[in-house]
Amino acid sequence: MLPVPPVNSSPASDSSSPPLPFPPGFLWGVSTASYQVEGFNHNSQWADWEHSGRIKSGDRSGAACDWWINAEPDFDLANSLGINALRLSLEWSRIEPEKDRWDPAALHRYRELMEGLARRGIRPIVCLHHFTHPRWFEQQGGFLHPEASSLFERYTRHVVSALGDLCRSWLTFNEPNVYAAFGYVLGEFPPGQTGQIGAAIRVISAQARCHLAAYRAIHELQPEAQVGWAQHFVVFEPVATMVDRWVAGLLHGTFNETFIRLLEHGRFDFPFNLLDGNAADVKGACDFVGLNVYGRLHVAFDARNVGQLFGRIFVPGHVPQGDPGVDRPYGEAYPQAVRVAVKGAAQLRKPIYVLENGVPDAQDRIRPWLIVNVVKELHSLIREGYDIRGYFHWTLTDNFEWTEGWKLRFGLIQLDPATQRRTPRPSARLYAEIARNNALAPELVEAYGPAPNS
Ligand code: BGC
Repeated sequence: MLPVPPVNSSPASDSSSPPLPFPPGFLWGVSTASYQVEGFNHNSQWADWEHSGRIKSGDRSGAACDWWINAEPDFDLANSLGINALRLSLEWSRIEPEKDRWDPAALHRYRELMEGLARRGIRPIVCLHHFTHPRWFEQQGGFLHPEASSLFERYTRHVVSALGDLCRSWLTFNEPNVYAAFGYVLGEFPPGQTGQIGAAIRVISAQARCHLAAYRAIHELQPEAQVGWAQHFVVFEPVATMVDRWVAGLLHGTFNETFIRLLEHGRFDFPFNLLDGNAADVKGACDFVGLNVYGRLHVAFDARNVGQLFGRIFVPGHVPQGDPGVDRPYGEAYPQAVRVAVKGAAQLRKPIYVLENGVPDAQDRIRPWLIVNVVKELHSLIREGYDIRGYFHWTLTDNFEWTEGWKLRFGLIQLDPATQRRTPRPSARLYAEIARNNALAPELVEAYGPAPNS
């Protein structure tokens, strides 16, 4: 493994080149999601998915990172790393466990969490929907139900009225593209449908309408609020031929750009505009763009793979990558992906936050390299004039990784879920140094220059 500097080393100490500074007020954060960290979540559609045996590793979320009872030790760790922002999500299924029944105790706990962050000088970014919602909402058809946007708006009003004094940065949705693709095309998330591209497009459109309703409601209740969403972005790298390039372009346009285009133009591009055109008012409805960027997938044309838009998606063995999932590699760790994503999002002319970036890497083999090179790329982009306001690493502490269960470990801090014991990985010290200095030390750039062998 490459050397990791001690926590307090000064970036400019014995190097001739200056550190790479970031703008004052830049946010150095970590991202989390309710279902993955809180534990004992019983009322969401994901609880049903988990209990019906759909977690490929066979794991159970159980207490997860125990945040519902005891998040504060992790907040202390975040604080000790010099992190100044933390992204969390709210569990709608706790707040409205049955339709029209609101649970004040759940909001009280979220207040405690957000006050705990404020006491430590950590700014929250709060996401209203990170893949999970109440069982009753799923049972009535989820986002495809005609009432979805009024129910989502009502939920939004409820939480912003209760918590708005503690938060001004809101995300409506985490990754509408992943939610729709995994739930309706790949069958990996509830409701577990496969090949339903039309349904996936209608879900994205419905989430855009919910986004708009929430955007307006939040601004009405809290005029100074900043409202955005988190867009998952993957670089699709064509293997060689013109048809490979065509498929990669199709996947890019469909997966990466659909929601961005909705916000930019208020409509889907052809041919998806034929499936659902009802999103005109969404145009311009965001104050910033959040980007979740993990890396690159490779694509070859495959005429048989209609369900995945004729793409055979794979990860070559020789590229830098973290640990594999239960039945497939996770993806190539590709720091330059952040450049492609930022350029794509810049078309909206709004401030940009990288709200997730990381790698599953239990042994911390390549995480330090990834962090240094992504941060270096962000520094160049800011110098080129891109308005990037923060970087949030996924994630603070190993957490429950959806269908992979505990198999994939993304934490700066290792967690043993059985004992709840935490052990910081070397990356935690490295990230702390960058965050505390608001700069990247040249010796880190030098040490982590070459791409590691996977
Ligand atoms: C999701 C997270 C997930 C992470 C790592 C992101 O797409 O928002 O919930 O844990 O990827 O796979």
